[in-house]
Amino acid sequence: MIPAVSRADFDHYMVPVFSPLDMIFVRGEGSRLWDQQGRDYIDFGAGVAVTSLGHAHPGLLKALTEQAAKVWHVSNYYTNEPALRLARKLCEATFAERVFYGNSGAEANEAALKLARKRAVNLYGPEKIEIVSFNGSFHGRTFFTVSVGGQAKYSSGMGPNPAGIVHIDLHDEEALRRVVGPKTCAIIVEPVVGESGVLPVKHEYLKLIRELASQHDAALIFDEVQSGNGRTGSLYAYMDTGVTPDILTTAKGIGAGFPIGIMMTTAAMADKHFTPGVHGSTFGGNPLACAVAEAALDIINTPEVLAGVKRKAKHAADRLRQMGQKYKCFDEVRESGLWMGCQLTPELAGKAGAFMKAAADNGVLHIVAGPDVVRLATSLIISDAELDEGLDRMERTCAQMTGR
Ligand SMILES: Cc1ncc(COP(=O)(O)O)c(C=O)c1O
Repeated sequence: MIPAVSRADFDHYMVPVFSPLDMIFVRGEGSRLWDQQGRDYIDFGAGVAVTSLGHAHPGLLKALTEQAAKVWHVSNYYTNEPALRLARKLCEATFAERVFYGNSGAEANEAALKLARKRAVNLYGPEKIEIVSFNGSFHGRTFFTVSVGGQAKYSSGMGPNPAGIVHIDLHDEEALRRVVGPKTCAIIVEPVVGESGVLPVKHEYLKLIRELASQHDAALIFDEVQSGNGRTGSLYAYMDTGVTPDILTTAKGIGAGFPIGIMMTTAAMADKHFTPGVHGSTFGGNPLACAVAEAALDIINTPEVLAGVKRKAKHAADRLRQMGQKYKCFDEVRESGLWMGCQLTPELAGKAGAFMKAAADNGVLHIVAGPDVVRLATSLIISDAELDEGLDRMERTCAQMTGR
C-alpha cells in the first residue's frame, strides 16, 4: 500500500520557499474546501485571487475535459482554436488588438517589459530603456519582474539587478514629473495595488501617469494580474479609471485555477517590434489553458456576475466594517469589489499572519497583504449563504484575536 502523504513531507521534500499551513485540501466545491480529515473551510482567499469561479465549476470542468479529450498541446509552430477564440474575445471586450500568452502573471509582465524596451530601442535608440515603477508594487518573481517590483526584499541578495529601473512613491506627483523623461520606455502600475494592501490608485494620478507616458512616448503598462477579470466588479479595473493603458497584463482569475498569463496590447505597440523570434513560450497559448480561460471569460463577462460582485462586495465590506468597530480590530476596510484589505488596528499590528492562522482554525481561509492587512479575495460567484457563513467565522476570529 502507498503510504499517505502529510504536511511533514513538505518539510522533508520541498524547497523551503513557502511555509504552508498544516491542512492539506483534497476536495473543493463552490467556495468550500475539505481537508484530509474531512473538515470544511469557507474559501475567502481563492488561492490568492485565482479561483475566480470557485472550485469544480461545472462550466470550467466541461471546457477542460472536452478540450482534454481533443488536443492538449501542439506548440507555437501551430496555432489552435481555443487560443484564437480567447484572443478574439479579449480584443472585443477591451482596448486590445493583440494578445500574447504565457503561463503566469510574471511571464505576462516579462513580455510587457521586454516589448516596451524593444519598441523604445527600435524607435529611439539604446538610451531609451528606463522603466518607472512604484514602491510597494509587485509584478512577479522572475529576475526582471522582481527588480521592477517595488519591494527590495524580493530582489536583493542575488547579485546585480537589471539596470534602468526607477522606483518612486505612489501618488508623489513631483517625483513622477521628475523621473519620467525622454529616456523612459515604460511606466508600470497596478491600478489597485494588491500585495501592499488593496490600495486603489487615485484616478487623477493615473491620468497624470497617462499624460506623461504619452508626452514621452513611453508605454503605459497596467498590471491587472490581480485586479483583472471581474475582481473589482468591472471586467478590468482600468475600465473605471478613465485611463486606457498601452499594455495590460493579466493572469490569476482568467485561468480560474488553470495556469495562464496574458499580455494584451495594441497593434501599434506590438506589430513592428514583437516580430517572429523576439519572444516566445513553449506552453503559452496551449489549448487546455485557453479553453478554460475562454469559458471563465464567458462566465465572468456578464452583467449578472459583474453586478453580483458589486452587490456582494458591499454586503461583505459593511459586515467587516461593523466587526472592525465592534471588536476594534480593523481601522479601515478598503473594498475593490470582492477584494478587500482590512487594515489591522495598532493593537494587532504585525499580526495578519496570526489572524490568518486563527481564521483557518475557525474554518475560513483568507490571505494577507503584508503584516498589517487581512486580505480577502473570494470567488466572484460565492453564494450569499457561503459569504455569510465565512463572515460569521471571521467574526469569531475577530473576537478571539482581540479577546472582546
Ligand atoms: C499584481 C501582480 N502582478 C504579478 C503577479 C505575479 O503573478 P504570478 O505569481 O502568476 O507570476 C502577482 C501575483 O501575486 C500580482 O499580484
